[in-house]
Amino acid sequence: MTLETTRRGLEDLLLSGDTKAVPIRLVSAKDDLALASLGEAEQGWVEAQGWTPKQGSVLTLPDGKGGVSGVLLGTGGKDWVTLAPLLTGVLPGALPQGDYRFASALPDPELAALGFLAGSYRFTRYKPEDQPKPKRLVLPEGANKDQVLALAEAVYFGRDLINTPANDLGPAELEAAARELANTFDGSIKVTEGSSLLSDNFPLIHAVGRASDRLPRLIDLTWGSERAPKVTIVGKGICFDTGGLDIKSGSGMALMKKDMGGAASALAFALLVMRAKLPVRLRMLIPAADNSIAGNAYRPGDVLPSRNGMSVEIGNTDAEGRLVLADAIALADEEAPDYLITIATLTGAARVALGPDLPPLYTDDEDFASDLLASGRTIGDPLWRMPFWAPYDKQLKSKIADVNHIAEGPFAGSVIAALFLKRFVKDTKRFAHLDIFGWVPREQPGRPQGGEPQGARALFQFFRQELGTL
Ligand code: BES
Ligand code: MN
Ligand code: ZN
Repeated sequence: MTLETTRRGLEDLLLSGDTKAVPIRLVSAKDDLALASLGEAEQGWVEAQGWTPKQGSVLTLPDGKGGVSGVLLGTGGKDWVTLAPLLTGVLPGALPQGDYRFASALPDPELAALGFLAGSYRFTRYKPEDQPKPKRLVLPEGANKDQVLALAEAVYFGRDLINTPANDLGPAELEAAARELANTFDGSIKVTEGSSLLSDNFPLIHAVGRASDRLPRLIDLTWGSERAPKVTIVGKGICFDTGGLDIKSGSGMALMKKDMGGAASALAFALLVMRAKLPVRLRMLIPAADNSIAGNAYRPGDVLPSRNGMSVEIGNTDAEGRLVLADAIALADEEAPDYLITIATLTGAARVALGPDLPPLYTDDEDFASDLLASGRTIGDPLWRMPFWAPYDKQLKSKIADVNHIAEGPFAGSVIAALFLKRFVKDTKRFAHLDIFGWVPREQPGRPQGGEPQGARALFQFFRQELGTL
């Protein structure tokens, strides 16, 4: 799916005003005023159906002529936005084909529209006939059409990339996605690939990716004025993670097409920044590789050089993400950016700590942390802070190299991985790291089961606020 077709598909779902559209009322409690404004027959219908305004429950009201006169959406209380920000995403799946509009006051019109569009998503690459009949929405008052479309486009773009299996999405296809962005928005792109990774001093990216016949590469996209604040995002682009010689179990490997979820989020973020023309100098770095098994694969116990000169002892070839990120971070740090953010499906431990919906956010900058958390909450892309706990850093000591790339013990896996990354940050002004899951295991409102580019909207919300274009 190209950006262009995604965009057009979304435009078709958003109407700019239609008085014949079916009204949707949000109902937070049984005695909600919305119910009172129903006619007698409609109230009787609600009663007969035994409908209650549970969060996410949808009821269509018959118009007596075989059609729908209205829709009720239960919110389960007044403060639903914090915990189910994309609640309106249940609507497309529950409604018959048609045109709809919100007839109730909305706490956040942009999110309400985004939820509806996010809930309309299906991954249909291999089953085009599965595309559901469109449910269209009148753009709610107070929402900006371009912004809503861009946010939804970024979500679709990221989901499509993650959902595409590894046989159709390798390092070359990630590169193609980045090139499409660069071409669309007039950015520059440079790709260092295969043995050039060695000659250009990206030894860790090369080591991780060299066992695959799909060449590893570092994708480097830049956009915007050199004089603007430098914002660099680094996304983990492991297209499939077998674990390498420390091979994963069958169940551990089952979902590992999503191990480029950080790259998908970085691409989605870049799309948002460029569409909105934010006044930043954007740089997006994606180390893209397969973590494969072959005779030339890197091994546990190997000691490898890294871009910034530190030698790294390999503890486990399944901790490949932090290695490819280390070289990309070192490169990013060389120009001392104002902001450097890494996004990666880095550890299973992050999911154990916070579950699939809530990515850990690491940063030592208190203001950056609280602003990012608030931005995530505002835009329905929540994050939760975890610490760069310095006392754990000594667990990365190696007897024979500058650093060991994993800790010996089983504790605090997500923190240790974050501390490893931090070792490669020297001159950057503000550094943050997101350890995302990149996947929705069980369907939720506005979040169909499958890939999810977590963190992209939270970061975009932060920068559009920070730079005063809101
Ligand atoms: N891509 C995985 C992390 C992952 C696994 C994210 C499952 C989400 C769900 C990563 O490359 C990995 O395998 N990490 C290891 C690190 C360990 C060997 C220190 C992990 O988390 O088990
Ligand atoms: Mn791994
Ligand atoms: Zn991985």
